[in-house]
Amino acid sequence: MKILLIGGGGREHSLAWKIIQSPLCDQLICTPGNAGIAEIADCANIAVNDVAGIIALVQDENIDFVIVGPEAPLELGLVDKLTALGIASFGPTEKAAQLETSKGFTKDFCTRHTIPTARYDVFTELGDAKAYLDEMTAPYVIKADGLAAGKGVVIAETKEIALSELDEFFSGKFGDAGTCVVIEEFMYGHEISFFALSDGKMAMPLIEAQDHKRAYDGDKGPNTGGMGAYSPVPGFDQAMVNTIMADIINPTVHGMAKENMPFVGVLFAGLMMTDEGPKLIEYNARFGDPECQLLMRRLKSDIVEILLAASLGSLDKSASPEWDETPVANVVLAAKGYPNAYAKGTVIKGVDAANLMEGVQVFHAGTQRNEAGALVAAGGRVLNVTATGKDIDQAVKRAYSAIDDAIDWPDGFCRRDIAKQALKNM
Ligand code: AMP
Ligand code: GLY
Repeated sequence: MKILLIGGGGREHSLAWKIIQSPLCDQLICTPGNAGIAEIADCANIAVNDVAGIIALVQDENIDFVIVGPEAPLELGLVDKLTALGIASFGPTEKAAQLETSKGFTKDFCTRHTIPTARYDVFTELGDAKAYLDEMTAPYVIKADGLAAGKGVVIAETKEIALSELDEFFSGKFGDAGTCVVIEEFMYGHEISFFALSDGKMAMPLIEAQDHKRAYDGDKGPNTGGMGAYSPVPGFDQAMVNTIMADIINPTVHGMAKENMPFVGVLFAGLMMTDEGPKLIEYNARFGDPECQLLMRRLKSDIVEILLAASLGSLDKSASPEWDETPVANVVLAAKGYPNAYAKGTVIKGVDAANLMEGVQVFHAGTQRNEAGALVAAGGRVLNVTATGKDIDQAVKRAYSAIDDAIDWPDGFCRRDIAKQALKNM
């Protein structure tokens, strides 16, 4: 089968690495890909939001199955257009992707289907939003309704800060995404990324991971797409999976079907594990990045078979995926300055040497080859250094020793405390 994978991040490199191991895959093309993906698949330089360009490629190349990595093409209705053309694809329709693209939609959906989440309200008027703060206590959680690249959430410690943030949201800080605002109760607990597949009718649990969203050690600094992750999460057991499936994932899949927008794809639930049980922080309609890299390293089953079953609505006939219990860590190397301004084109050495180290597998994110053929940085998050180990401690140490002893990139940085929380609890 000829497969097209959309995206060019670390998530997509790990998906590509796993897809080409499938006997179902005869050829893999990736748009736009990156320097790492180019080593294992064909890449076509089409941007992820160039829906017309992607459709033309699908037709020219007679693609059998399209797997969508990031959220942008989902929001632009790529899956709807492929379905209309009779081409199999993995990912939700534009309407179903609202679970990620509209926080207001998701909060209201949770109310309709009694899915546990923080108390909230949705506002389009500044005055109403400000008045609602009187009903809440600090810290105040304020969110832009639409996609804001993971940055549209503010946690304000005082009412004064919350009021001035609301002024900024409504004066266009996040463009259109910020003119509809969700204000919600602050939830206490630790966060888990939980993944499940849905074929539109039923859900199949995948596994959990723990992300590190802030840029710097000690969970300081600005929010990012994710600076590192590990899986499995110690203490996260089958009973928790059962609770999450029963209280959150299954009602979501059934609710979406009932509301005539069946969700096909990955449900990525950002959960707060509170004293009252797991509560939904947000949904994403795709695999997480950097979490997907861990899922792909732990998955023993054929990824293409699973994603195809979800896409064709036949998860009920599929065996549950098998997972390696060996712990895996992923440490992200980002360009200095990320998530703000950073330099591109700086030379990276030592990735091949890192890949030879025990347990280590480097997935590329924003990388390219320059005219001289050297590997250079081409984005904010640049490399994902994943490593397995007999426990998380060894996995993380192996990832850091690959970074310190093999990879030579003076213009990059990473967090030094990935999985520290888990190690404390061990
Ligand atoms: P989101 O983009 O909705 O996932 O929010 C980004 C981050 O803000 C989350 O990963 C949490 O760390 C934090 N956050 C969001 N909503 C809440 C909430 N209601 N209570 C506590 N923390 C939150
Ligand atoms: N790692 C969080 C995300 O993919 O949104």
